[in-house]
Amino acid sequence: MARPFVVINVAASLDGKIDTIERRGAPISSERDRDRVDQLRAASDAVMVGSRTLHDEDPRLTVRSSTLQADRVARGEPANPAKVAVATRLGLKPDARFLSAGPARIILFTARTAVDAALGHGLLTAQGVEIYPTDGPQVDLATVMAKLVELGIRRVLVEGGGSLNFELLRLGLVDEVQLYLAPTIFGGATAPTLADGAGLLRADAVALERVQVEPWQDGGLVLRYKVKPR
Ligand SMILES: NC(=O)c1ccc[n+]([C@@H]2O[C@H](COP(=O)([O-])OP(=O)(O)OC[C@H]3O[C@@H](n4cnc5c(N)ncnc54)[C@H](OP(=O)(O)O)[C@@H]3O)[C@@H](O)[C@H]2O)c1
Repeated sequence: MARPFVVINVAASLDGKIDTIERRGAPISSERDRDRVDQLRAASDAVMVGSRTLHDEDPRLTVRSSTLQADRVARGEPANPAKVAVATRLGLKPDARFLSAGPARIILFTARTAVDAALGHGLLTAQGVEIYPTDGPQVDLATVMAKLVELGIRRVLVEGGGSLNFELLRLGLVDEVQLYLAPTIFGGATAPTLADGAGLLRADAVALERVQVEPWQDGGLVLRYKVKPR
C-alpha cells in the first residue's frame, strides 16, 4: 500500500522520557531545538499527533517562523502543513488550538464506531475539519497512511505521543526517527517514552541505522536514525 515518507520526532530526557509522570507536556526542547522542529514542520505536508497528545498538550502544530511560512507559500504550498490527529474516544474542545491555530487544513481519523458520538461530528464538520472513519476499535494506521497519500500528502511529521509512535513503528510505517536528547532526567515508570504501547520482543525489535549525531552547545544531543526495512 502506498504511504507517505514518515518521520517521528521527539524531545526526550536522557532517560528516554518524552514527558514527566504528570503528562502535561513538560517543556524539554531548547530554543534551538524548537527552531529545528519548526524547520521539520515547514518541510512537511502534514503533522500528525495522537489524541492524548492533543488533550495533554493542546498543541498548535503550526509553523512558528513567518520566514519559513513565507518560503512555503513561495513554493506554492499552504503556509502551514495539514494537521492530522488520530482519535477515537477523547472529545476535542471547540477552543482547542488544534482547531483554532492556523490557517491549516485539519484532518481527523477516527474509529467508525465513534464518529458521531464522542467527537461532536456536526461541530467539527462545521469548522471545516475533514473527518475519515476507519474500521476497528482503534484507528487503522495503515489505512490512514494510504488515505493521506490519496489526499496529496507525501511527507508526514509525527509529533507523538509514545502510543502512536509505537504503533506506527510496530506496523512498519516509519522511515526515520529524530530526537533531541535533553541533558535532564525525569524518571518515573509511568512517564511516556519515545515508543510505549504493548512493546516488542527482542526478535521483533525495530532495527535502526544511525545517520546523524550532533552535540549542541545547550548540552543536548540531536540524533537521527533511518528505520531499516524488515
Ligand atoms: N516530548 C515530545 O516530543 C512529545 C511529543 C508528543 C507527545 N508527548 C507526550 O506524550 C504523552 C502522550 O502520549 P500517549 O502515548 O499517552 O498518547 P498519544 O500517542 O498521543 O495518543 C494515543 C491515543 O491515540 C488514539 N489512537 C487512535 N488510534 C490509535 C492507534 N492505532 N494507535 C495508537 N493510538 C491510537 C488513542 O486514544 P483514543 O482512544 O482516545 O482515540 C490512544 O490512546 C503526553 O504526555 C505528551 O505530552 C511528548
